[in-house]
Amino acid sequence: MHWTKSVLAAIATSALSLSIGAPAQTAPSPAQSAQSQPTGPEWWRHAVIYEIYPRSFQDSDGDGVGDLKGITSRLDYLHDLGIDAIWITPMYPSPGIDYGYDISDYTAIDPLYGTMADFDNLVAEAKKRDIRVIMDYVINHTSDQHKWFLESRSSRDNPKRDWYVWRDGKGETATDKGEQPNNWQSWFGHSAWQWDEKTRQYYCHYFYVQQPDLNWRNPEVHKAMDGVLDFWMKRGVAGFRIDAVSRLYEDPEMRDDPYLPGRNAYGDRNIQHKYTDDLPEVHDVLKEVRSVVDKYPGDPVLVTEADEPNVQALAKMYGNGDEVQLPMDFQIADVNKLSAPRFRELFNEIENNPAHGQPEYFFSNHDQPRQWDRYGDGEHNDQIAKLMAVLELTTRGTPQMYYGEELGMRTTDPARVEDVHDPIGKLGWPKEKGRDGERTPMQWDTTATAGFTNAAKPWLPIPPSASKYNVDAESKDPNSIFNTYKKLLALRRSNPALRDGAQISIGNDPDVFMYVRAVPGHAVVVALNMSNKQRSVMFIGLDKYGIHGLLKPIFSTGTGFAKSDTLILEPFAAYVGTTEP
Ligand code: NOJ
Ligand code: MG
Repeated sequence: MHWTKSVLAAIATSALSLSIGAPAQTAPSPAQSAQSQPTGPEWWRHAVIYEIYPRSFQDSDGDGVGDLKGITSRLDYLHDLGIDAIWITPMYPSPGIDYGYDISDYTAIDPLYGTMADFDNLVAEAKKRDIRVIMDYVINHTSDQHKWFLESRSSRDNPKRDWYVWRDGKGETATDKGEQPNNWQSWFGHSAWQWDEKTRQYYCHYFYVQQPDLNWRNPEVHKAMDGVLDFWMKRGVAGFRIDAVSRLYEDPEMRDDPYLPGRNAYGDRNIQHKYTDDLPEVHDVLKEVRSVVDKYPGDPVLVTEADEPNVQALAKMYGNGDEVQLPMDFQIADVNKLSAPRFRELFNEIENNPAHGQPEYFFSNHDQPRQWDRYGDGEHNDQIAKLMAVLELTTRGTPQMYYGEELGMRTTDPARVEDVHDPIGKLGWPKEKGRDGERTPMQWDTTATAGFTNAAKPWLPIPPSASKYNVDAESKDPNSIFNTYKKLLALRRSNPALRDGAQISIGNDPDVFMYVRAVPGHAVVVALNMSNKQRSVMFIGLDKYGIHGLLKPIFSTGTGFAKSDTLILEPFAAYVGTTEP
């Protein structure tokens, strides 16, 4: 499939003014230059992060639950796949109500997952393979079994009372607890306030009742939590993914949140979390976290879980280069349908974000149905999985994969309410089935327990699709989803334009999302047919992006082929082409 630039006809190049001579990221912003000097080589700009849900990746001791030794035993797999860093969701001691996000000790390992020696060994073995380890920093709340909370709830004059958010009920008397302090709601359904009979006050919890919110207005909380960062940095971790960060502060005036029309899956009135989300003080904490981790070598990375409503709010997370390097882009993760215009709009926005920050892209994680199902149309899901892989791995940003995404793992929800583990699935059944479906065991092979465990029964059942979608079977098929990921990861690492190039959208086709990635001397064109129709596209004006001469494919899925001067893309085909030899 070769054709000359001179016969490539035109697709409007929209209003983009970037040129190859000055790609966006080679003109360092103040934020970038601040980060690039004393703190190291900005490894996170070129890294691919892989999220591991430790319960579900690999069991080593036959109890049906994944563990740290299990992860260590799979590091070669991750290295061969082309992964640079793993983010491990919480494996600290926890009663497990929110499956680890209710932490009862921040500086220990839950025996379910192993020992501190296992952890140290994991970090050391990962290092040998150039894989960095990113920890989950759950900052908004602890478990109600954390010793800090046990102390806090023991009496109103306990020194740790003010480490959590305690309030009187409205109209409370000696005998009547009154009403909850205001109308704030938990993200997991019903009130955000829990009455505590012993000390006769309510405490605030944005998530489960068993996850009381820390009071970030108390300086001692800062000190204690900074100590948590120090503890793990000293053990050689590469940084943190900060949980639920926009929820850290609440309105000091305690104003009621405005109601919105309708009701949620739990039957509550819909609410806008106006007085509990994204308060400006959040940024002071992010600066503080940055200053703590920056005491350590190796250019530690901070990633935030912040489902910001727009690019302006997202860009604030970069600060002036003194907050986080990688705020996860939920706008793009949540497009939830194949839409070339929507992706074009959002990628243009983040590419031109006011802070010039590095984007962080993901499509699946442990909280939402997997991308195979969300973007699939029911008929071409595998083809679409490959298309999404090309989108994720050829755009300019740090990709964050979720274990099993590289296989085309599917969301497999429990069939009966009595099988549900995640409490929101019990509360919201059947409208909300919880998050078990995206947390099923990793599919390594075709055996009954998919190579995940020797136990007869893994903690969550193996999805029926595991017999076809597993590492063993897919490794043998050059066209599998797995091999698509593997090839793309290798390409991304070796191709200078894909590694470092500016990203410039071209055209405004309603079905085909196209962009150029370019650094001086190197350029590639990516064309993604997001429709179930055959589409043909023509390019013009690519010389201004440094694309001269023959364009030839360096990667394609489905069939993209040239017919005279036109690129023809089969339904959901993805094409990556370059003019280089
Ligand atoms: C976000 C985490 O990703 C989710 O799994 C958890 O339930 C909440 N934060 C509360 O920690
Ligand atoms: Mg185990």
